[in-house]
This record gives sequence, C-alpha cells and structure tokens, in this order.
Amino acid sequence: MCGIVGSIGKNNGRDFIIEGLKTLDYRGYDSAGIAFLKEKEIKIYKDAGSVSHVNSLIPNKENGNVLIGHTRWATHGKPNMINSHPHLSFNKQFALVHNGVIENFVELKNKLISKGITFNSDTDSEVVVNLIASIYIDTNDVLEAIKRAIKEIKGSYAIGLIHLGEDKLYVLKNASPLLIGLGEGYNMIASDASPMIEETSKFLELGDEEYGYITSKEAIIYTRDGKHIHKDYVTKEAEMIRHDKNGYDHFMLKEIEEIPTVIKRLFDFYTKDNEYHFNKSLISKIKKSDHIIFLGCGTSYHASLVGGRYFEEMLEIPTASYIASEWAFHPMFPGKKPFIIFISQSGETADLIHCMKIVKERHLDTLIITNTKGSTLERGCDYSLILHAGVEVSVASTKAYAAQVALLLLIVAAVKGDINIAKEMIASLPIISHIKDNYKDKIKEIANEIKDKKSIFYLGRGYDYYLSLEASLKLKEISYIHSEAIAGGELKHGPIALIEDGTPVIVFITDKVTAASMRGNIEEVKSRGASVYVISTKNLSRDSDKIIIEEYPSYLSSIIVSTVAFYLAYYVSLFKGYDVDKPRNLAKSVTVE
Ligand code: M6R
Repeated sequence: MCGIVGSIGKNNGRDFIIEGLKTLDYRGYDSAGIAFLKEKEIKIYKDAGSVSHVNSLIPNKENGNVLIGHTRWATHGKPNMINSHPHLSFNKQFALVHNGVIENFVELKNKLISKGITFNSDTDSEVVVNLIASIYIDTNDVLEAIKRAIKEIKGSYAIGLIHLGEDKLYVLKNASPLLIGLGEGYNMIASDASPMIEETSKFLELGDEEYGYITSKEAIIYTRDGKHIHKDYVTKEAEMIRHDKNGYDHFMLKEIEEIPTVIKRLFDFYTKDNEYHFNKSLISKIKKSDHIIFLGCGTSYHASLVGGRYFEEMLEIPTASYIASEWAFHPMFPGKKPFIIFISQSGETADLIHCMKIVKERHLDTLIITNTKGSTLERGCDYSLILHAGVEVSVASTKAYAAQVALLLLIVAAVKGDINIAKEMIASLPIISHIKDNYKDKIKEIANEIKDKKSIFYLGRGYDYYLSLEASLKLKEISYIHSEAIAGGELKHGPIALIEDGTPVIVFITDKVTAASMRGNIEEVKSRGASVYVISTKNLSRDSDKIIIEEYPSYLSSIIVSTVAFYLAYYVSLFKGYDVDKPRNLAKSVTVE
C-alpha cells in the first residue's frame, strides 16, 4: 500500500515527484525514493524515512525527463534503504516502483535465481523488475516482456517502469489503483489524482491487467491479450486535496475540533425544509430489506457497531457487523433480503474491496458510506453517501468516525421518518464545544498520569462499549501503549486477571440502563488496585468522576463522548513525543490485504 508518482516531459519533474509523494504519503511513509532516467544510466536515490529526507540526498542539480517516485509502507522486507523503491533490475536496464502484493513472488524469485539472476532486497517488487528484464533479453521488446510477465504474476500491482535508452514510462496494473494524468506536452502517472490535479483535470483509468506506456505526447494502453484499446479520458475535480493545519500543531487536533462543523454540514446536506433529503430508492431498498450487513475495518467497523444498534433499536431491523478481512474468508448472508452497507473513510481499503467483489457476485444491493468521492468503493457500490468531512489527514481517524456515526443515525432517522432525531443531534453539538473549551486541562492531567503505563483498559456497556473499542484503538495506534476495551459484563470472565496495582481503567458511563452495572464493575477493578477514571453524563455522575458531561440523548454518546477519547489519545501521544499524525507502522489508507 504505497504511493506512486511518475512523469515524462514535465518541466522540473523532480519537484513534481517530490510534492506528489508528499501528497501520497497517506498511503505509507516508512521509506521513499526516486529514479531519474539519464542517457547512460538510471540514477536512484532512496532511503528509509520521509520524502523530504530522500530529497535532501539528491544533488541540487539532479533532474530528468522521465522520473518515477515511490513512498512505501513495507509489506515484504523491513523499511530500509535496500528495500525502498525504485528497484533496479539485475542488469541495471530497468527500474520499477510498485504498489501491491505479488502473491507468487517466492516461486518466481526461485525460478529467476535458478537462471543465475541475483537479488538485493527482500521485496516482492524486485521480482517483477527482474522478471521483466529477463524476459526482455529474449523478446527485445518491452511491451511483449510486460505482456508475458503479466501472465506469470499473481497478485495486486500498480507499477511504473522505466527502461534505459527509451523516453517512455511504462505502466501495468491489477487490483491496485493507477491513473494517467494527461498534461500539455507532458504526461504523468500516480496512485490517485491528488498529485496531478493542479496540472490537469483529464485522466485515464487503467483497468485490471491492462498495460502500456506514456510519452510526453501520448498514452498507449493494451489489454492483457495485447489488444490496443482507446480510452476516453475522465475528468476529476480538485476537491478534497488541500492539506492545511490552519494554525494547529497537528492535523489530529484540528480534525477533532472540526467535528461539530462536520456534523452540521452533514445535517445541512441530508435534510431540507424539515425533511430528510436522501435518495428515495435507497430508503425504499433499506425499508424492504430484512437484514442489514455492515462491513468495515478498524474505526469504520466500530462506527458500524453503533449504526447496527440504531437500526435494531429504532427500526427493529436486525443487523450484523463484520470485520471485512474476516468476512471475506467466510462470507455470511443472514436474512432473505439483506442490504449491504460498506463503511470506509478512504473508500480504498483493500479488505473491503475484496468484500465488494464477493457481494457483487450475489447481485445484492450495496451502499458505501465514505469520505472519498470517486474512490474505488464509491464507484463500485449501487448507492453512495458522502461524509463531507473534508480531507482527514491524520492517520488516526476522528472526524470521519463522528461523521460515519452521525450519517448512520440520519439514515435510520430518515427511514423512520423522524426529523426530531436529526434536530436532537444538532442541538447536542454545543456539548462538544463545551468539552473543547472546559475539559482539555482535565484530559491533559489524565494523559500525564497514564502516559508511562504499560497497559490501559477501557470499560463500558452498550453504546459505551462501542465507544471503548474506538477509544482503545485510538490510544494504542498513536501512543503505542497496549490497550484493550472490555464490555463491563465480560470483566469477570477473564480480563480482570490483568488488573493490578495502578492499572489505569477508563470507564464510560453515559447510559442509564447500564450505569448501575458499570458502578459495580468499578468496585471490582478498584478492589484489585486499578486507578479508575470515570467519564460520565451529569444525571449518572458521582462526585469522584473525572469528567462529567452535560446531558444529551444517550444514542449520541459515540459522537459526543468520543471527542474526550480522541483528545486523551492525542495528548498521551503528544506528551510521549511521538509523531501524532503519522504513527509508526501505519498508513492512512490500507490498500493491501
Ligand atoms: O478508510 P477506512 O475507513 O476503510 O479505513 C479503515 C481503517 O484502516 C481505519 O479506520 C483505521 O483503523 C484508523 N487508522 C483508525 O484510526
């Protein structure tokens, strides 16, 4: 799940590649590299670390007519210089950048090694450049070599390839995105439109197993069988591209504080004159279904748990929420007329795209809830609803989570035909601003107390349990502290064994139905030495609670109280001195399975 950028014929191509890689580092940021096609050699600069770091390794004067660049999230081989892309072929004639996973790379590598070809890296990608270079020895024709290689490679790939002595940038793609941007007197490639959007609005989308090349004047594409195809360009708009911290130190903080605006924007978008404003056929399809199946990963999966509860409680439609990567290997279709809802901030999550292919074979109705118009899932589902959250840059998802939950609530309220639910949601937004204005100091205090702990537990029941799951994920991904969410009732079935003197336990109590049971859980963990931090709502609070939030309808907990959890994770990470927006080992969009 890496980012690719390439250009041919572009003035100051190097700057374009560097800026493009920075735009794409949501796809991975553990290493980066650029290859310059020179007259007599392919020059490569690459290393572990950021794009800026790699740029600093390149001599000021270095530039070229044909360039390919890469920002990496390691799948095969550690993030180090050798494993960084571009990879040079064994004979130094070809260089390649790759996004995806070559499933049969071991088999192909062994075959090439048996022919005497040597490898430098641990990556699956180097196998492809060596495979193409070795076939080229027989064919003396790069396109023919690529065509034959495609028949041997199994897996996902978006590849940019250059060949010494040819002013061309070759491309091939399967199950990973690759776009060609058409400029005036130059052409470009990239994993998505964002690096190219200031240069052009005209794009060619490569299909699976298609390949070809661009020069500065043309783009030539072939099918797997070598048939030349004409493609009409598609246009893309320059929306959702700007990345601006607006004076904040980190995107995460800015994005948490955008939550009220994002929710108001959703309200304005999906309601009009006191009525819901959704596609009528979508609402009717949901009404007619007898089961809702949710598919999501990470935070989006957590949002689906809340959404499932809305459908069950407010509409009495049974639901099942599945982790996409689990469901893909064991697809379940409960009910006779299930309706499928995918949830994905990015719309590019590979596990979900896999699920979408499975669902399509069944011809079931699908809805995608996403922040990314034009993404693979948005294009592939029957219905799409956009989160309108604005670009979420921080790897830790915050405003998109709040928007996912809010939009699910609006959908359910629209099916129910109850505009008051939307109004209650809007009426509760000042509580989020109140948290921002009044509780940050208390949250910082808690962050200071827990930041050096080895393990932290979150407890809740019902909506508070879903919230605990999300709070725990957020904390672990940016603070690197082990953390777990436990449903209050499950404590005594095992996890309580982990509680010892000083173990921090953060408890959410926002639901009157479960409040008394949660108070019982608090006693259980306290008597084993836990340091307890309770976050409660006013009517359910006790004096010793750390944070007491104004009253609101309890189904809004995931939207309102999640902000407390987000701030807490943020300050723990900040106080530990970590890179809040770019936590280790992660990427914003998980485009490999
Ligand atoms: O783009 P998606 O919503 O499909 O991404 C799913 C997860 O990768 C994502 O929510 C991840 O868990 C976040 N980094 C959590 O903050």
